Amino acid sequence: MTIELDAADFLRDTILSPRGAVTFIAVLIAIVLLTEAYKTDFAKIRGVPELPSALPFVGHLHLLGGRSGRNDATVFTEWGEAVGSNVFQCSLGNQRTVVVNDWATMYALWIEQSQQLIDRPHQPGFVDKLGIDLTGSCMTDQIRKCRAAGMRALGKPNWHKYYHLLEPSSSKFISSIFGRSNDGKTPLDTYVHLRHIVFDLCLSLTYGARFGDVDDDFMLNFIKSINAVSAVRSSTKAYRHFVPLLRMIPEATSETISAERIRRRHRDILFNNYNDRIAAGETVDCIVAALGEDKLTEEEVHGTCISLLQAAPDTVASGVYQAVAWLCSPEGRPTQQAALAAILEAYGGDRDMAWKMAFREERVPLISSLNKETLRFFTFAPYATPRRTVKDVTLPNGAVLPKGITLIMNAQQVNHDEAHFSSAWSFQPDRFVDSKPGLPHVAFGAGSRICPAVNISNRIVCALLTRLILAFEMEGSKEPTRAPNVDAIEFSDVYDELVAHPRFYDCHFKARDSAWLDKILAEEKATAMASAA
Ligand code: HEM
Repeated sequence: MTIELDAADFLRDTILSPRGAVTFIAVLIAIVLLTEAYKTDFAKIRGVPELPSALPFVGHLHLLGGRSGRNDATVFTEWGEAVGSNVFQCSLGNQRTVVVNDWATMYALWIEQSQQLIDRPHQPGFVDKLGIDLTGSCMTDQIRKCRAAGMRALGKPNWHKYYHLLEPSSSKFISSIFGRSNDGKTPLDTYVHLRHIVFDLCLSLTYGARFGDVDDDFMLNFIKSINAVSAVRSSTKAYRHFVPLLRMIPEATSETISAERIRRRHRDILFNNYNDRIAAGETVDCIVAALGEDKLTEEEVHGTCISLLQAAPDTVASGVYQAVAWLCSPEGRPTQQAALAAILEAYGGDRDMAWKMAFREERVPLISSLNKETLRFFTFAPYATPRRTVKDVTLPNGAVLPKGITLIMNAQQVNHDEAHFSSAWSFQPDRFVDSKPGLPHVAFGAGSRICPAVNISNRIVCALLTRLILAFEMEGSKEPTRAPNVDAIEFSDVYDELVAHPRFYDCHFKARDSAWLDKILAEEKATAMASAA
């Protein structure tokens, strides 16, 4: 009896007293925080060096996402050097992550164990707000179906449908440069127009829509919302995507949600337009029309279309833009003459034929090589897109990475691996002229989730370069703030997103032969008008 009273008194005087309760709760919180502080989704992996100095809760995240003034790939390279290994593990919040910095290990995992790397890590609070999203989702049956539909639309058997879009839009682009360049005296920035060409193609292959003008408000707002979503995808910028405790704090309407709403409104307008045209008896050849053929639900068709539109506009445009940046730089200008000679040689000196066939075939090895070298040297997705394993995978040193672990390919470093590419940090336009078939570089990723638009992207970049080289001599601005930047890393000033973006520059475009250019542009315009009639 006395002991019971003593215990009750003790409780009343300690835990149940106001001060005691506060202390008890504080201790409880401290225990929870201490347990959470260094918790990761996987225990340390044996046989893989670990980056030291992880901070509580955030791990090594505080040095990524542009917070140290460099892109993540550059930081990963430095970390690899610091631990003395091309493969190492680090913590992004609570996500244990294995980073691969070299070609040989990339090949052993992404190619030789490709199917085991078919998932993407979950980015909580992002993908779940987007609906169906090809690039950011695990490989479910639904994503497999959508990816197959996207690949079919982008596949070679369909390309003949796209020539009549790409040829006139590229002519319009070149004609606009020709008209504004003042015989090469007025410097021009071509980025927005290039992006327009690719976006226009993708609008057509998804919703059967076209947009005439580069400054079309509808299109610009649509692209703006798309870019706002892309800015967050697989980025290490937002702590809450990696730190579970932070997700307990309610979030106000995020930029992603607002952007997704705008994106959805634009999508609905496109879909309604498509339906109106079908109701009016028109035949519209596009992915939406293939709804029945691909056995996709309406939601899946939208998911596929939006995923393609999401990925398209900036990547291909950046490829052409940065190739021109190099070609018009002091280092690259001599290659313009060599490229022109190679194009003419491939077509027996017939420049009309070279112009007309630019989108229809890839016959000029130097142009194909120039495109590959541009994508290798300036890696637009510096850390590709992270993967997650669906089974255990084995590293060349025998270490086993468990099912469900996140893997990052440092594509920027893999593309500059001196053990695989000789003089990897120098730009060699003819590097791939005699290369064997196989994976030339990892700009498009590799293996089971490689970019489904590799071939069509290569074709568009090569074709636009061919036409630009046939049409103009190009010289970059000498104005320090508008000169092209051709540094393999600093060409982009985006450090906190998945996709790099070339710094803007100006170029002087001087027609090689104005009379010929006038003639060939007029001929193509006439052909386009005749086929539209
Ligand atoms: C030069 C142009 C391009 C580059 C450098 C590029 C790069 C990439 C990279 C690095 C990936 C991740 C691959 C991996 O995980 O291994 C990817 C995925 C993807 N790309 Fe591209 N891309 C380009 C053009 C395009 C275009 C034009 C489209 C659409 C028409 C597109 C659609 C996609 C899609 C849907 C995915 C996700 C595939 C999946 O997760 O299964 N890309 N791209």
